[in-house]
Amino acid sequence: MIHVAVLGYGTVGSGVVEVIEKNKDMVNKKAGDELDVKYILDLRDFPGDPYEDKVVHDFDVIVNDPEVGIVCEVMGGVGAAYTFTKKALEAGKSVCTSNKELVAAHGPELIALAKANNCNYLFEASVGGGIPIIRPLNYSLTAERIEAITGILNGTTNYILSKMENEGADFESVLKKAQDKGYAERNPEADVEGHDACRKIAILSSLMLGQHVDSDKIYTEGITKITAKDFTFAKKLGMSIKLLAMSKALEEDKAVAMVSPCLIPADHPLKMVNGVFNAVFVRGNMLGDSMYYGRGAGKLPTASAVVSDVIDCARHMGKVIMCFWDAKEANLVSIDDTSRKFFVRMDNKGENLAKQLFGDIKPVRVEWIEDEFAFITPEMTEKEFATKYASLSDYAYGRIRVEE
Ligand code: HSE
Repeated sequence: MIHVAVLGYGTVGSGVVEVIEKNKDMVNKKAGDELDVKYILDLRDFPGDPYEDKVVHDFDVIVNDPEVGIVCEVMGGVGAAYTFTKKALEAGKSVCTSNKELVAAHGPELIALAKANNCNYLFEASVGGGIPIIRPLNYSLTAERIEAITGILNGTTNYILSKMENEGADFESVLKKAQDKGYAERNPEADVEGHDACRKIAILSSLMLGQHVDSDKIYTEGITKITAKDFTFAKKLGMSIKLLAMSKALEEDKAVAMVSPCLIPADHPLKMVNGVFNAVFVRGNMLGDSMYYGRGAGKLPTASAVVSDVIDCARHMGKVIMCFWDAKEANLVSIDDTSRKFFVRMDNKGENLAKQLFGDIKPVRVEWIEDEFAFITPEMTEKEFATKYASLSDYAYGRIRVEE
């Protein structure tokens, strides 16, 4: 029997216990041993809960129990979660987590610590919820040189953008409805400002490069400035707007990464990813493109990914599962010199100036929006675009990157 401790009995933690219990036969068969949830760590008590007798309030009970072989850290944050993870790994207990903030900030250190103690630090649930993406990068695509990763990595913002597109509604009203229904957090900043997607693409980029990508150095733009009118013009152009997290390996061991809302064409593989769903698009130099799609958040999808890691740990007790993510910092270049097209929405009065600056543009108009038009620029660097767009500032209402 392998004893498991769950740190945090919230949404994901209770899901982990539920998955292990509901799929007991299958889970035990695949783990090659019986899994037993021995402890649940939480500050609260849960009177009446079927697992109330497993609840403890002191982490030392867990770390000092030699029977515990695997710890699920589903508390979140980088405070106690970081301390407990280190203590568990130092005690030779494998840790499985959904905590993207901690993985993005301290991944290489915790992986190295696990290795030094003959155990594992696994984090399948930290990106894309229930979608297998960490394991494919670590196990399945090992013959590939990964050239690029593009994903819709945040369910909340994808839900908001899908609603705005389908209902012609503005960001604020959709966000409010999403909060009322519990789909968006009361403090939505991490999601709507792109920080959550940034941490996730930092993790995927680190695995792509085998070196640490610092999430603070990734250019990140959220969806708060996207308007109903942007969607109206995008539709007229046959395009959609998605919050994309992108990362590309460049020559000479360099890389570039960013999180930004982007216009994508109707035939883009990520166009059909709607609502709370996530998808990750990976380009390898031998396989070409592959895509991973599914539920990127939620109790059971996320718990399923955590338990898949528990099973992996159970299969490898006393053995280290290789993971290539060095502490050495990856050479991330600025996005300034990367090139793309841009969508611009502006006042009719600036049309001549826009033509002077951007050349032969094709203005797009919508009957009921009389004073405005939109256009897509030729491909140019971010730097060049920023200069030209600044010259348009008296007339411009907004700009969005285009990803074809
Ligand atoms: N807030 C995240 C999302 C949860 O909306 O995708 C999953 O990481």
